[in-house]
Amino acid sequence: MKTPIPEYLVEVLDGTQDGGEVASYIPELARVNPDRLAAALCMSDGRLYTAGDADTRFTIQSISKPFVYALAVQELGLDEVLKRIGVEPSGETFNSASLDPHTQRPDNPMVNIGAIATHALVRPDATVAERVEHIRAGLSAFAGRELELDLNVCSSELETAFRNLSLAYLVRSVGGFEQDPRGIVEGYTHQCSLLVDARDLAVMAMTLANAGINPVAKERVVDEAVAQQVLSVMTTCGMYDATGDWMTQVGIPAKSGVGGGIIGALPGQVGAAVFSPRLDDVGNSVRGVQAFERFSKDMGMHLL
Ligand code: DON
Repeated sequence: MKTPIPEYLVEVLDGTQDGGEVASYIPELARVNPDRLAAALCMSDGRLYTAGDADTRFTIQSISKPFVYALAVQELGLDEVLKRIGVEPSGETFNSASLDPHTQRPDNPMVNIGAIATHALVRPDATVAERVEHIRAGLSAFAGRELELDLNVCSSELETAFRNLSLAYLVRSVGGFEQDPRGIVEGYTHQCSLLVDARDLAVMAMTLANAGINPVAKERVVDEAVAQQVLSVMTTCGMYDATGDWMTQVGIPAKSGVGGGIIGALPGQVGAAVFSPRLDDVGNSVRGVQAFERFSKDMGMHLL
């Protein structure tokens, strides 16, 4: 590739076509500027490249899930976490109310029911506020910056969180966790409301791709085996029902969020992030998916 990376990123963003709709089931999310568009790449040596609205902050939403899963696996060990949450694609929508019929576990930590169960595993004896602070600090270590919460988005989501509450009660009913389901959904919703920009997400993705070491701060956040576990689950479950399309066309571990962010992590090489709020039917950023398709082709990112 001959074009310098910053110009290349602008060209990729300009080449994407918008479509879809901003998520509206969280009332406050429907108020974001839908035309925001940003991309960031973080290399394994910590070099960062950005384009577009790279300083615009937005809520991390489901992109928090792999990082909270990383904290849970780091703190409890993989065997304990696997007893409670599986690693199989669910084949269902991200907020589906389903448990594995044989094991009664959520299928994986990337769908809401599994992410709610994962949230409950982190510091199980802590108060809601303590657990939220622990997760905020943990995700800040991945980003290399102190992340803050968007309490407006959080309370807006909590006002209509009936679906997530029902998922939490379902997991609680089969003994997936012991705490009050209302506090778990309250904490999980705070987790989803952490504010990030594209640059933060690229560093977070590169930390996973860099065997658990933040490449900018040069500090270990999680063990190598934990980062490998998280990337594996992102590979099979990160883009929900579109994970098969994603793996064939882009071919790297990834995670999307209804805030409009997508991260992709190419082990040992690059952490990438794109932000554009309009989503397709599955809940993935429309321009984000297109930008990653270009990255994959132009930079030979596909793992296979
Ligand atoms: O729990 C929810 O529904 C949101 N806080 C997060 C969902 C999400 O980001 C799904 N992603 N595409």
